[in-house]
Amino acid sequence: GKGKYPFYMEKEIMEQPDALRATMQSRVVNGKIDLSADGVPDEILKDCERVCVVACGTAMHAGLVAKALVQSKLGMHMNVEYASEFMYSDPVIDEKTLVLAISQSGETIDTLEALKYARKKGAKSVAVINVKGSSIARESDYVMYTVAGPEIAVASTKAYTTQLMALFLLVGRMAKVRGIFDDATEKAYLDSLTKAPDKMQEVLDQKHDIHKIAREMLDAKDAFMIGRGLDYSILLEGALKLKEISYIHTEAYASGELKHGTIALITENTPVVATVTQSKLKEKELSNIREVQSRGASVVVFVKEDFDLADAEYADVFELPAMEDEFMVFPASAALQLLAYYVSMDKGLDVDKPRNLAKVVTVE
Ligand code: M6R
Repeated sequence: GKGKYPFYMEKEIMEQPDALRATMQSRVVNGKIDLSADGVPDEILKDCERVCVVACGTAMHAGLVAKALVQSKLGMHMNVEYASEFMYSDPVIDEKTLVLAISQSGETIDTLEALKYARKKGAKSVAVINVKGSSIARESDYVMYTVAGPEIAVASTKAYTTQLMALFLLVGRMAKVRGIFDDATEKAYLDSLTKAPDKMQEVLDQKHDIHKIAREMLDAKDAFMIGRGLDYSILLEGALKLKEISYIHTEAYASGELKHGTIALITENTPVVATVTQSKLKEKELSNIREVQSRGASVVVFVKEDFDLADAEYADVFELPAMEDEFMVFPASAALQLLAYYVSMDKGLDVDKPRNLAKVVTVE
């Protein structure tokens, strides 16, 4: 049941620190990443030349975060495709391709079909799945199960962050077997990853502050979420969450691209949410925020706590507990999930069962 919570979504948001720990637990042995319990052989992680994600919705957004990591840590090219588009794009797939199929339910037909297509072309596959024994799990060469427990709310929360955890572990192992991480680098990486549940908890403990921010958005017809790089990937998921349960039309936008057309839509009635969590992007993101402010938009900023915002004025500022930049997705996601949750709840909507949507999508 929902326990003390009014909706499953809130319960599932709150369960995330434990779900992250559980997903990590069996895969860290004597302080090292070990995927042998999953049966994922080191050879396929070592020998692949390309990595490709096929997934839908939230699971696809988890793939985008993994892409940033694969490119920065492994220096390898990676594609992330909507599963429904994958096979119609004549994807370049061969025996040297590692396909990652990511799915909470393991039953999404588009993801299943994309995986079958890739395997026919000779790709090796690892599926990241929450539901044991599901169709995608059975179709894939190897499976890493997320330990999120059942996710009932249509809007995915703990499935997403446990997918991220599994993917961070997979990329960490790849870096090790490819000789990119030595023991010390692996240890530092794991130390940061181990902190993710606690940093998320710090955000969850401040849920009332996020509730206050949500109250300012109830009347919005349209909203924007702007950022660059990993912030943009995080916001694509944040915007999907807000759209699907609050029915506010929300666009996540790469903030540097706004001035090439879309900024025409920004007025005083368009709330803008920005995340600022990446050192190398901070100054450019802040300047993009000033651009929308000068069109009258009120901007709420979710900022990594040790970044200095100088004395700029924002509608609201929420400080995210600091981690190494690439791990900031964990605390930032918790904040954006809570934002969507409270907007939906305060609008009196059915948070767990938004209109037109099903938890499992078995039509193409
Ligand atoms: O079960 P799956 O992870 O394969 O589902 C994929 C999407 O349908 C799913 O993530 C959807 O986008 C969620 N409702 C988002 O909250």
